[in-house]
Parts: sequence; C-alpha cells; structure tokens
Amino acid sequence: MFDARYSMRSHVAGALRPSDTGIRVTLAGWVHRRRDHGGLIFVALRDRSGLVQCVFDPETSTAAFAVGESVRPEWVVRLSGTVRRRPPGTENPALATGEVEVVVEHAEVLNRSETPPFEVDSAIATDETLRLKHRYIDMRRPEVLEALLLRDRVTQRFRKALEHRGFVEVETPMLGRSTPEGARDFIVPSRLNPGEFYALPQSPQLYKQLLMVGGLERYYQIARCFRDEDLRADRQPEFTQVDIEMSFVTADDVLALMEEVLHEVVREAGVDLPVPLQRLGYAEAMDRYGSDRPDTRYGMELADLSAVFAGTTFKVFGSALEAGGVVKAIVAPCAGDWSRGRIDALAPVAQEAGAKGLAWIAFSSDGQVRSPIAKFLSESEMAALRQRLDVRPGDLVLFAADERAAANEVLGALRVHLAQELGLAAKGGFSCLWVVDFPLFKWDEEEGRWSANHHPFTRPFDEHLDMIESDPASVLSYSYDLVMNGVEVGGGTLRIHDPQLQQRVLGVLGIDEEEAKEQFGFLLDALAYGAPPHGGIALGLDRLVMLLARKHSIRDVIAFPKTSSGACPLTGAPAPVAPRQLRDVHLRLE
Ligand code: AMO
Ligand code: AMP
Repeated sequence: MFDARYSMRSHVAGALRPSDTGIRVTLAGWVHRRRDHGGLIFVALRDRSGLVQCVFDPETSTAAFAVGESVRPEWVVRLSGTVRRRPPGTENPALATGEVEVVVEHAEVLNRSETPPFEVDSAIATDETLRLKHRYIDMRRPEVLEALLLRDRVTQRFRKALEHRGFVEVETPMLGRSTPEGARDFIVPSRLNPGEFYALPQSPQLYKQLLMVGGLERYYQIARCFRDEDLRADRQPEFTQVDIEMSFVTADDVLALMEEVLHEVVREAGVDLPVPLQRLGYAEAMDRYGSDRPDTRYGMELADLSAVFAGTTFKVFGSALEAGGVVKAIVAPCAGDWSRGRIDALAPVAQEAGAKGLAWIAFSSDGQVRSPIAKFLSESEMAALRQRLDVRPGDLVLFAADERAAANEVLGALRVHLAQELGLAAKGGFSCLWVVDFPLFKWDEEEGRWSANHHPFTRPFDEHLDMIESDPASVLSYSYDLVMNGVEVGGGTLRIHDPQLQQRVLGVLGIDEEEAKEQFGFLLDALAYGAPPHGGIALGLDRLVMLLARKHSIRDVIAFPKTSSGACPLTGAPAPVAPRQLRDVHLRLE
C-alpha cells in the first residue's frame, strides 16, 4: 500500500476526504498548478496518490503565503496545514479529493524546477520523442503512471498465480549462446576470450528445457529477451516474457493452466475473461480470417466462391481456378457507397499483401451496382454470389483470386485494414482465443528450404511422425498461440524430448549432425540423459499490458522504451565507446 509511512509526510495528498476535516497534515510532493486569486493562492499539490488543493492565505501565515507566491510548476514542496471542507459551490467532483482543501500554515521548498519542456497535463498532446527524452517528467502524468502501476499489478498477479501452482522462479543467463528463435542476436564481445562473443537471449528457451531435464518440473521467469529486429508499435529490441515450462504435460494441460492464470491476471484490469477460451486450428484460422492471429471482435469472414465461379469466362478468376487456386471474397459492410477513389485506395493494401489486382463490386444503398468486373460475370454468377455472401445494399465485396494461401493473406490484410477504417474493432469488446496446431515447418522461399514455424524443438503430432521426411508440409505440431484483439500475445509448444526425433527434425531443416552439435549440442546431449516429456509457453508481458491498458503501442507500458530506430532519447543509447573499450574486447571499427 502506498501511504505516508516511511516518509517526511503524515498523509498522502490523494487520500484526503471530508472525514479528515479538522486534522493537521503534512504533505510532500510537486506543485501541479498554481493560481493566484488576488489575496489567496491555490496550489494543486501532486504526489503518486493524486492531487489535493492547498490554500495559501496571508491571514493564516505570511511566511507560508510568501512561499506560495514564489513556487512554480514542478517545484518540490512540503506543506503543513489543516484539512477543511471546501466552501459550498467550490467543490470539484472531477477530483477524488475535490470536497476538501488544506489551509497551509507552514510551507517549505525542498527543490526548485526548471520550466518543464511540456506541461504535466494529460490533456495536452506532446511529441513522443520529447516525452521520452524527459520520461521522468512524462511519468508524472497519470496516464503513464497508471500504465506502470497496472504493469506492476499484472506482473505480481502472474507471480502469485504461478507460485500458488507450484512454479519455481529461476533466473537464466543473459550472457549465453545464440538461441534459434529466428531473429538476429544482440552480441557481446568477450574480453577474456578474444574473438568470441556471447549472445543476449532471444528467449530463455533452451535453458528452460534444460531445467526440465534437471527435474524442476514447473518453471517460470519474468524474463527479459533481446531481439535485433525492425521495430514496430508492438516490437521492442528488449521486451519481457512471462516464460513458463512444465514437465509431464499434454498441450491441454498447458492451455488449461494458462486459462486459469490468465483469468486471474486480467481481472487486475477489470476484464472478466470467459474461460475456457475458443480454440481455432491454424488451418481454420487462415481459411476464415486470413490470419494466424485473427481479431474476432468483428465478423467479415472470408468466403470461398470457387464453386460459384467454377465455369466462369472471366479470365482472372478462371485462370486462378484452373491453376488449382481459389476465388475468395470478403464483404465490407457500409463501404458499398464509398467513392471510386476511396475504393481504389484499397488496392495498395492488397498489393502490399501480395495481390496481383483487386477486383470489387460495390452494392450501393440505392440499389446501384458499380464494379470494374461485373460486366465479365454472368447473371447466374452474380445471383449465386449475392446469395452465397448474403449481400445487402451498402455492401462492398472484395475478391482475391490466387493460390489458397496467397488469397487468404490478401483478404486477411484487407479485413484488418477495413475493420480499422470502419471502426468495427472499437465496438466489439475484448477478443481472446487460442490458435492451435500450426504446421511444424514452413517453406522459406528466399532460402529455398524448410524452416521451423515456431522453433526447431517443437514436437510434431505423434500420428504425423511418418511424414516428417516424406511430406514435411503436412506435419502439424503441438503448438498454440494466444491471440488477443488481433495481437499475438503469447506462443508455445510441446517440445521434442527424444534425441533421435530431434535429429530427424533438424535434418529436414537442413541442419546436419555436425552443425547441430556446434550450435546446440548441449541440448541434444541433455535430451539423451532422461529428458521428461515437457512443454511451455511465453507471454509477451508488454503486449498483454498494452492491451489491458487499452494502448496502441508497447512503448506506452514500458518505463524507458526505445524509439523505432532502436534509440533511447533519454540516455542517448546507443553511443560510441572509447577506443580503449574496443581494444579491451579485441575489436577494431572499420
Ligand atoms: P515467441 O518468439 O513467440 O516464443 O515469443 C513469445 C511472445 O513474446 C512476445 N514478443 C515480443 N514482444 C515485444 N517485442 C518483441 N520484439 C517481441 N517478440 C516476441 C510476443 C510473443 O507471442 N521461446 C518461445 C516460447 C515458447 O515456445 O515457450 C518464444 O520466445 O507476445
Ligand atoms: P485485369 O484483367 O488484369 O485488368 O483485371 C481485371 C480486374 O480484376 C481488375 O479490377 C483487377 O484489379 C482485378 N484482378 C486482377 N488480378 C486479380 C486477382 N488475382 N485477384 C483479384 N482481383 C484481381
């Protein structure tokens, strides 16, 4: 509890209430606002608990009044005085302490402040880089403070929920070997071992598996992870995972545990999560939403129109079907009356997702049909399409004709874009589900080889073991992603605990025995010494708190985040180092 104990105050500002009337209090904090009412000075005093109005009256104390005259915003003060009810008509219902004020009898300046670069007032929008440069001022704003407090509550709740269920918190090394999570490593040169480097962990993945071999059975860690990736609103170079691993479990066990824990955790943010959560197979998610992290707060599901256009003379659709592809569509409600220009602006969104073109039909509210392609479609095709899609006046239908995966991707991207433009997501509450059973491998077009969909230690379905070499594309895995409001909040898998099976999977990935030994031979060794069946998950704490705080960037829930170029505007990191430091670690700059 945050209160006045262990401090140079008797009360905290935000806790004062009418029941405190007549009490003498000592407060300490920052001058939030100062108003001079000719004869009386009002100072809103702020501390972590909130604000209270303090009145300086020369008739109470001329010395205190003089201090009241001198103070400026963000000065640090200690005030003593008596709590009284505000005169009728001057109460402030917007403030928790709005029915009272403190008549100041003694005032002391503890520190002065330069004029802050921006006002500590959440109503005023300030450039983010400036806010981050002075983050210590920014976090005096209730918005930032509340996000940090929520993050703390969520973290504590995870700890409590997991400790309660027999999980042991174990710290794993920051200076380790590269973990194959698929991103670029941050590397640290070793002074004592010239020419050798540590890698900062992309996740504690291999260590937590070793802990299972070591018999810990239930592990967790609030773990800092490092990935040298291009940054976005939900990606930072360092971020925090709630990292979990369990032994002797099935995927159902992991999901059941997580649902219980999540239910407790999100209650901290006033969200009542109905469990068990929906589970959607990866294939179905792609087919219905064109995404492995579908936002189910709105519909707009993908429809397969291949049967409707089976015999079409429209060459764009016909040739896609002939090549074994599909014709799929989504219906955007209320977009049927959009102007040509606004509809055309969707084409780049589709192209960005890999579309070759974007066919569309707009059904205006007044019954008109506008379309660059309707003239190529037969009357019966139009009728079948209307029926299959349940088209209503005001609908805009968008098509993708391509290979199945490509068409799904295009419509999935359009679906998210349109939902944003139409404001559909804002209306729909909170969506949370599991996407499960991902393929074990995915084909890496650029490298011309199979790569791991999650990571190389993921366990294939028992009934698919025969197909690992003969039909890698069809092998599914015991895997699960937690998806909230269209954001991937967590992911995990059961792991391979049999060294022979691990070797076979690595073989498909084109990692031969020697290379495997070199990269993670220590894990293969460990698997050979009685590894229990095990599996786990990692939740992105930053992303979860971002969603619970209803923010749009994880920067808003990190105390000292980096900008999109990976820089810290406050400390100036990254920065050059002294030549001597480079020499120490045996490096020379080009
Ligand atoms: P994965 O790579 O899916 O799995 O990461 C787990 C979760 O971490 C979050 N996340 C990030 N958050 C912010 N910035 C980033 N750059 C970033 N990268 C990932 C996401 C993601 O779902 N070892 C496995 C877990 C396991 O198999 O147990 C792993 O790291 O929310
Ligand atoms: P074209 O015959 O290339 O002029 O295309 C006719 C219409 O179909 C245009 O509106 C294109 O944008 C659209 N189109 C082209 N290729 C595709 C595709 N693969 N999927 C959906 N629409 C397409």
